[in-house]
Parts: sequence; structure tokens; C-alpha cells
Amino acid sequence: KTKGLALTPPMGWNSWNTFACDIDEDLVKEIADAMVESGLRDAGYQYLVLDDGWLAMERTAEGKLIGDPKKFPSGMEALGEYIHSKGLKFGIYNCAGNKTCAGYPGTRGHEFQDAQTYADWGVDFLKYDWCNTENLNAKGAYQTMRDALYATGRPIVFSICEWGDNKPWEWGAEMGQLWRVSGDIVNCWDCEYGHGSWSSFGVWKIINMRKDIRKYAGPGHWNDLDMMEVGNEFTDAENRSHLAMWCMLASPLIMGNDIRTMSEETRKTLTNKEVIAVNQDSLGIQGFRFLNENNIETWIKPLQNGDWAITFVNMNEKAFELDFNWQKHELGDDLNQKFAHLEHETYQLRDLFNHQDLGNTSKPLKATIGVHDVLMLRLVKK
Ligand code: DGJ
Repeated sequence: KTKGLALTPPMGWNSWNTFACDIDEDLVKEIADAMVESGLRDAGYQYLVLDDGWLAMERTAEGKLIGDPKKFPSGMEALGEYIHSKGLKFGIYNCAGNKTCAGYPGTRGHEFQDAQTYADWGVDFLKYDWCNTENLNAKGAYQTMRDALYATGRPIVFSICEWGDNKPWEWGAEMGQLWRVSGDIVNCWDCEYGHGSWSSFGVWKIINMRKDIRKYAGPGHWNDLDMMEVGNEFTDAENRSHLAMWCMLASPLIMGNDIRTMSEETRKTLTNKEVIAVNQDSLGIQGFRFLNENNIETWIKPLQNGDWAITFVNMNEKAFELDFNWQKHELGDDLNQKFAHLEHETYQLRDLFNHQDLGNTSKPLKATIGVHDVLMLRLVKK
């Protein structure tokens, strides 16, 4: 019943990174409106996902989940209707354990009942977390919830939020459409914060943490690098690089900023259709690190029609003068048996952030890349 779901990485917005549990129906409606008005919906961001904090502290006498009546006085079904009326899809959150991470009622022992409740509310996406799961087998717990979602007959994208200890990439494709690969993201470029029993990770920490799992990604099943921190106190250059890398890695593009108040530059970055097209490419091949010289992270990704994406991120604290001789490199992906023979094939170069043509691969490419900024190109086969 879920065949054909998420054939390209899911795109949307999630409340957690900016609002944590401080969410209510006015906020959600304003976010839905902003997704439409800012052009985000039309750029492809579809799912509006409520994370932890939406639930009432107790189930009803019949054991049913209900939204917090103070935060969501009109009820969850009406909220879903509002979201759908904007041409968006409705995402919700719960947890495989007895309680969610924030202490609200978890789904353990209520899987089929909760799945039916979501289906009745018109839910299109379920993020399913992994707190308070003592003595639960991860694969089994996600399988139970998968079966419960199937049983409703409603297509619901199943977002697995296990942080990597149980290697969700090895079984995630059987259970759902996306799985987290790490603990929580935090809005820093390359740092790690310890919180006692758990840690949170900056953008480049998550990118570097999992080197060997790209083969698990493909249409309908994706490595999820976590909700983005684009627009959350990064420089414009860092916002561009962050988005570019999530696109290169074929990660779900779930925004985590306050899109009601974002800057025009952030809006332009998030809605850049040429950049998003790399993420949404129909081959669904996750990109990989090609080179790392002079502190320039260089990543490549095979695209449909024999095209390639190549992304240079300047990790230096000063601008970098790139001088890249295409003839010296063969772009190759052994895993997927895709190769670009640049010594006897010429590709046109398209700068995806600046919407400019930059000649072709017959001549070395010269460009200045600012601090933590990115040059992202599409090589177009003629
Ligand atoms: C842990 C998850 O990794 C986060 O993304 C978020 O859903 C929180 N739990 C909510 O409590």
C-alpha cells in the first residue's frame, strides 16, 4: 500500500528545531499560510509536520490519543483539514516507547489504535521516535507500526527516528520511507555538544559521521540527515552550503526554521528550484565525497540523463580561488556504474545558486568561493 510513496526525498517543515514543544494551532496555521505565500509549497515543500508536544497528557477513557485541548482547541482533524485546504500534507509525531521524549503518551501497546486515529484525522506522514523503549526490539517495533499504518489503508509516509544504534539503514527500507542516521542536529557548522547520555551534532558532524551507508538510499527509502537548520543563525553562505549538502546526499528536505519571519535571502535559498532539482532527481542516487583538497569539500552526485552535480564547499576561514581542471578528473561512481569521461566528453556547466551558465568542461574552471560558501554546479550532457 505504500508503493510509490516518497519516490524522491520528502520535503516539508517540522516544528521541533525552532519551537520544541511550544506549538499550537495558531502557529501551525500561520506556518501553513507562510508555506504558500513564500513560495515554499510551490518549490516542493509539502509536508507540515507537528513534532513532540502536540498531545494531551492523557489518553481518553477508550485509550484514544487526543491533541492538547488548550493548544489545539479545534481538534486535530480540523487542523488537518486546514493544512489540506492549503494544498499541503499533514504530518504528526509519536514514539515507539511508553512515552515520547518530552513525556507525552507514547504508542507502545496502542499501535493499531493510534494508526487508525491518524488515518481518521487525515494524517499523511508519521515521524516515529525512539525514547523510553526499554526491552523493545527496534526493527520489530517499527515493523509493528508499519503494519498498523498499512492496516488503515491510508498511504502514510513512515519516518523512522532511531538515531543509528540499531543500524536503521539496514532494515529501514522494509519498514518506512526514511530513517534518521544520527542523534539530533544543532545549528552549528561543525561542532558536537554532549548532554550527558546523548549528543547533538552540527551540520558537518552529521555529514561526516556515516560514510558507508549511501548504498541504502534510493527511491522510496532515504537516509535522513535530520531536519535542516537553514535560517537558524547561520550566515547566508552557510545556509547555502547546508542546503546544497542535504541535496547532494539525497536527504529529506525538512525545514526547521521559522518561515514566517525568515529573511529574503533565506527564502531565496530554500526555494531555489535548480538546487532542489538535484535533491529531487529521479535516479535517487545519494552523492558522495569526491575530493577533499585545500580544505575544499568536493562532492558529486550522478543525475538523470547522464548529468552530474558537483559541489565545492569552502571550509576555510578565508575566501578560496578555485582553479579546477576537469581534464584531470574522471567523475565516477563505482557503486552505480556511472562515469563521466571528461577527457573526451564535454559537459555544459550551470551554476545552480547564481542561475548562470559557466561555459563547459573543456577549460579549467576558475571561481572565488567565499568563507563557508558553496559553488554548486550541474554538468549537463549535450
Ligand atoms: C528526538 C528526535 O531525534 C527529535 O528530532 C525530536 O523529535 C525530539 N525527540 C522530540 O522530543
